[in-house]
Amino acid sequence: SKGGKILILPGDHVGPEVVTEALKVLDIIEKHTGARFERDFDLCGGCSLDKHKDSVTEAVLKKCEDIDAVFFGSAGGPEWGTSQPNPESGLLRIRARMQIFANMRPCKFASKSMVSRSPIKEEIIRGVDFMLIRENCGGAYYGKKIEEEDYGCDPWEYRRSEIERVVRVAGALAMQHDPHLPVWSADKANVLASSRVWRRITHEVFEKEFPKVTLKDQLADSLAMLLITKPTAFNGVIVTDNTFGDILSDEAGGLTGSLGLLPSASLAGPPASPGQKPTLGANNAGGVRGLYEPVHGSAPDISGKGLANPVAQVLSLAMMLRYSFNMHDEAEAVANVLDSKAEGGLEVRTGDLGGQADTREMSEAIQGEVGRLLMGR
Ligand code: NAD
Ligand code: IPM
Ligand code: MN
Repeated sequence: SKGGKILILPGDHVGPEVVTEALKVLDIIEKHTGARFERDFDLCGGCSLDKHKDSVTEAVLKKCEDIDAVFFGSAGGPEWGTSQPNPESGLLRIRARMQIFANMRPCKFASKSMVSRSPIKEEIIRGVDFMLIRENCGGAYYGKKIEEEDYGCDPWEYRRSEIERVVRVAGALAMQHDPHLPVWSADKANVLASSRVWRRITHEVFEKEFPKVTLKDQLADSLAMLLITKPTAFNGVIVTDNTFGDILSDEAGGLTGSLGLLPSASLAGPPASPGQKPTLGANNAGGVRGLYEPVHGSAPDISGKGLANPVAQVLSLAMMLRYSFNMHDEAEAVANVLDSKAEGGLEVRTGDLGGQADTREMSEAIQGEVGRLLMGR
């Protein structure tokens, strides 16, 4: 039977607002497909600091190890500041504990009618469609930090095993979709030793394991520039380190016109093709263990006002159905929801997309449309 166990960590500010709405979409899927999702709610972030004086408890970390998927909102806010442990450290500890080393951040328009919302000229941005894979458990984010009054240090390290496992996900994804599209690897091999090792090992892996896929290197700074001037040149897969991937994925939000549109999936192994079993990081639901969250943060500037766009969280749900639960048709229905209605796509829009709808109204429109799509199968 379809479904499984999910741990829901709504987090702070707009996190709970958009998670609540996305879960209503999951209700619709349960209703139409008979799938069942056992839902456990808990704390991570500022909410956990307030209750437990820590950004995530050992009990929650334990749950993360024994779950099919984690559905995450966002953690952080000015009221908690940056001194350690801050809200964000909870998320970093979960990523490390689950070893979800491949953070997949797709960039494409959820609907053709949204192309005109981009700050980039339509003829340049139309058709953009890439998957950015960000290394998620290493680099400058992890390693032994030193923080003193007058000195701070974050060693930026990569080991062979860490590089191999994430670039393999890029290769596997390219093979699943379109082996003719190149895989771009973004690094700073002209400056950083860790990047030179990254580049050498990435080429070794592709020559040995993905000889049909063209691997191209691009320095991360110039890639950031080219993403704006020639975004469609990167259609396919981009694989990169933790820090570069963090920055480039917010840039991708800028390309589409709103961070409120972009989802992400952090996986413990390569996603399996429909009908296949995952080889690494498998869960009990026939998929791969993962954490699903929007690219955006807790948006404290708009929280509590019903202004948050729920689309990024809803599209993260679609990624969860696909990768952790092998529910490809249902994932497709949710992912296409904005495109599916009449000609112009779903007309209800939140403020970030130039519309008047609030979070709940946008979500209700999505729920109605997902129900219609699943009914019509
Ligand atoms: P942010 O992504 O929260 O917000 C950036 C801008 O985008 C803001 O103007 C915000 O209003 C807008 N925005 C974001 N999500 C939106 C949505 N769904 N609908 C409409 N507009 C949206 O980035 P920030 O302001 O730099 O960070 C705020 C806090 O969130 C910080 O504490 C940061 O560390 C944290 N954060 C958490 C996560 C996470 O938990 N995964 C990710 C990023 C940032
Ligand atoms: C993201 C966020 C996180 C990151 C923070 C909140 C730890 O910016 O998921 O992109 O830097 O990875
Ligand atoms: Mn980020």
